[in-house]
Amino acid sequence: MPGREHIWQRYAAWLGLENPMVSLGEGDTPLVRSWRIGPRLGFERLYFKLESLNPTGSFKDRFVVLEIADMLRSGQRVCLATSSGNTGSALAAYAARSERRCVIFVSEQTPDAKLQQMLAYGAHIYRVREFGRSAEITRRTFERLHRFATERGYRLVVSAFRYSPLGMQGVKTLAFEIADALPTVDHVFVPVGGGGLLTALWYGFDEWARGGRVQRVPRLHAVQPVGCAPVVRAWRRGEDRILPVEARTEVSGLAVPFDIDGALALTAVRASGGAAWALPDEQIWEAQAMLCHEEGIFAEPAGAAALAGFLAAIRENALRPEESVVCLVTGHGFKDLTAMERISSAQAVPLIEAEEIFELPFA
Ligand SMILES: Cc1ncc(COP(=O)(O)O)c(C=O)c1O
Repeated sequence: MPGREHIWQRYAAWLGLENPMVSLGEGDTPLVRSWRIGPRLGFERLYFKLESLNPTGSFKDRFVVLEIADMLRSGQRVCLATSSGNTGSALAAYAARSERRCVIFVSEQTPDAKLQQMLAYGAHIYRVREFGRSAEITRRTFERLHRFATERGYRLVVSAFRYSPLGMQGVKTLAFEIADALPTVDHVFVPVGGGGLLTALWYGFDEWARGGRVQRVPRLHAVQPVGCAPVVRAWRRGEDRILPVEARTEVSGLAVPFDIDGALALTAVRASGGAAWALPDEQIWEAQAMLCHEEGIFAEPAGAAALAGFLAAIRENALRPEESVVCLVTGHGFKDLTAMERISSAQAVPLIEAEEIFELPFA
């Protein structure tokens, strides 16, 4: 069945790869129908694509598997990465598996759980002051790392077409899987940081549409936190350039203050007839709590941003109830336990005696 083909298999021949051992079973994630949120709002065809269930807990595994496979092919031994945590965790896992040395530069605000995950796999990590917050420092770090890695023959792994175009081909499989399961999907809501994810979806749907496997590309909606929304700003103003901002969001993964793949993502939103939504962090946290309480889905804040965008679109009457909508749940709740405490700390956990169990009001 098309789309059920493994990411590894799809690109193995193309890349001339010989070692399927690199795979950890990434991709082919569940697409589940909303049980409560969608129907409550009159949307019977709302779906969640659980990218949080990839091997390291985010969609990044889809691109890292190809980057590492290509490192094996070319004999490269060292990879460098910039990350807010999820690329780093994915890279650290696949590097451990393939005995590559992995050095990751993360933002100051990277959640502890993501740091722990990278460290557990054996990565070397450095937190870089102001990286991911200051547009200038972030841009300069990317550029210098790119040059440095090229000079030394190291691989720079960044989840963006600008820096890792080969690996990003793997993220297109996300579109293939959605298109195979829902060939007439009308809207896809996508959390946007650097913009690589949304761009990959556009390329993937477009490829399937050209091949006649779907009729058209769905409307792609970019969702960003207000505190770092350069793509939304350009979309609203009708501009083509992504201007730098100072990031002021606590949503890890979406704090990318300058253009990496943002201009491509903007083109994709426009070409597909979608829209761009900027939301306060609080609304993203509310969507995260809704996913937990109403759908049983445990996502990190960035993983709930797509739902927050969907809710905003409903408020603005931008969607019709009969339309089908997919919200990407891009990262697992265990990635950011501080964010999770906002949801769980409201509920006390009393210590009781064993006999008291049977006196509790269960109803
Ligand atoms: C969980 C999560 N969702 C969404 C994104 C945004 O992806 P992109 O930077 O490709 O726009 C990221 C990026 O780090 C992420 O970690």
